[in-house]
Amino acid sequence: MALELPFDGAGVPPDLPPGFQYLPQRFDAAAQKALLDEVLAAIDAAGTPFAHGTMPRTGARLSVAGTNLGPLGWLADQRKGNGYVRHHPETGRPWAPIPAALLALWDEVADYPAEPEACLVNYYDAKAKLALHVDWDEEATDAAVVSVSLGDDALFRLGGPRRGDPTRSMRLKSGDVVVLGGPSRRRHHGVDRIYPGVSDLVPGGGRINLTLRRVTIPRILAKPFISG
Ligand code: SIN
Ligand code: FE2
Repeated sequence: MALELPFDGAGVPPDLPPGFQYLPQRFDAAAQKALLDEVLAAIDAAGTPFAHGTMPRTGARLSVAGTNLGPLGWLADQRKGNGYVRHHPETGRPWAPIPAALLALWDEVADYPAEPEACLVNYYDAKAKLALHVDWDEEATDAAVVSVSLGDDALFRLGGPRRGDPTRSMRLKSGDVVVLGGPSRRRHHGVDRIYPGVSDLVPGGGRINLTLRRVTIPRILAKPFISG
C-alpha cells in the first residue's frame, strides 16, 4: 500500500530514509546519450546480449531483459539459482568492462573503498515491471547499490526491510541516480510501471537501468587472518 501519491519528479521527495540518495538529473542529456551509446556498443562488441531471466520458484520469464558489465554479472536462473557469474550464460563470453563514467559516479556517491564489480543492465519495454525485492546476493552488503535511469520514466517504489512495510513511490526520469546505501541497502524496491514514449533516448523506446554493485568483500575490509 502506498502511503503517498506518486512523487512526480519536481524537486527532491520529502523525508527520504537514511542511506537513500536521490540525485535528479545527475547526468544531463549529452551525458545520458554518451553513456547509453557506450554501454550498448560495449555489450554488442562483447557478445553478451540481453536475455530474459527466470524466477527462482516458478520458472516464469522476467518481463525485464538483462545483461551485465564488469568482472561479475548477476543472473536470475530458475535452475541454477540467482547469483553472480563471470560469463554470459548463452555465448560464454566475459562481460564488457564498466565504463569510466560509471566508475566515476561510484567514486562520488558510494562512499566505499573499492570499485564496483558488477553493473546489471536492465531493459524495460513499455509493459515491463520489476516486483518488490531486496538486492541480497552480494557478500558486500555494506556497499551501496547505485542505480542510473536512462530513457523512459519509471514509477519506482521504495519499501522497508520487510515485504509488508509501507512504501513510497517516485517517478524516475532519464539521467536520475538513486543510491541504496547504509540502512536503505536492505529496503525493498521495484518498478511498478514504465511511462512509454516519454523519451527517445533508447533506440526503439523503453528504459535502461544500470545498477552498480560491489559483490565480494574487498581485501582491505576482510578480517585479518591471525595464526597461532
Ligand atoms: C533494480 O532494482 O535492480 C532496478 C531498479 C530500477 O530499475 O530502477
Ligand atoms: Fe534491485
